[in-house]
Amino acid sequence: MEQQPIISIRDVSMRFNLAKEKHESLKEYFIALTHGGVRFDEFFALKNVTLDIMPGDFYGLIGLNGSGKSTLLKIISGVYKPSAGQVTVRGTIAPLIELGAGFDMDLTARENIYLNGTVLGYTPKYIDSKFDEIVEFSELREFLDVPLKNYSSGMVARLAFAVATITKPDILIADEILSVGDFLFQQKCEKRMAELMSGGTTVILVSHSIEQIERMCNKVAWLDHGRLRRNGEAAPITAEYRRFQKEEPPQDAPQA
Ligand SMILES: Nc1ncnc2c1ncn2[C@@H]1O[C@H](COP(=O)(O)OP(=O)(O)OP(=O)(O)O)[C@@H](O)[C@H]1O
Ligand SMILES: [Mg+2]
Repeated sequence: MEQQPIISIRDVSMRFNLAKEKHESLKEYFIALTHGGVRFDEFFALKNVTLDIMPGDFYGLIGLNGSGKSTLLKIISGVYKPSAGQVTVRGTIAPLIELGAGFDMDLTARENIYLNGTVLGYTPKYIDSKFDEIVEFSELREFLDVPLKNYSSGMVARLAFAVATITKPDILIADEILSVGDFLFQQKCEKRMAELMSGGTTVILVSHSIEQIERMCNKVAWLDHGRLRRNGEAAPITAEYRRFQKEEPPQDAPQA
């Protein structure tokens, strides 16, 4: 029997409306609206993206700032509904998309482990049984009763990664949040991701470190202005991306 994709993205577009003019008040805005005077710039963060991700793939998602990577991850994890197209996901997702999403910054790490665990669908009893493992992995035992607002971004990332990977999700999505961790923690995360993958978890990783993508991923999708520019085996695509990075002139270079 042919294997089914665990994530199937079919002709997905995502349109954001950017209001063109500033209206002084809500009243003015509605007057303009009834007179057809509000103009929106239609902006496509994603345009006709089609991509199949197979079970056990370790996918790297690359592209310049603003190319649509985070938008695509948010659509896959159900945060956004695409403006057009379909996404089918066959499995549980542990999304690590925005730093601190699923956390309450006023609560302590201890409280947040329970809060975030519940958001990810774990029972309190299950979290009890995994609590020490989470704390050990995040190396934050001394800071357990400190509110998260007093944590550094790397510490928040440690906690988020430890909670999200304590069970084996079918799909792990990590959007750059690992990049705020120090190199020791990054090594630890890479090791945990490799373990999850050998246990069958599908991973999608966004990273601006092409070395990390080459080290970890077997497949790569390259987004360019919201369109899928390349998709497939990692090595040839990362090689092409490296050449592209060399050719791309610095954005503030004086025009010839
Ligand atoms: N909620 C939103 N409303 C309007 N525009 C948005 C919204 N979210 C994203 N965009 C726009 O969509 C485009 C793609 O953004 P996205 O965050 O997906 O890029 P990215 O590839 O993740 O970039 P980066 O490498 O900087 O993280 C950007 O131009 C961004 O301004
Ligand atoms: Mg992003």
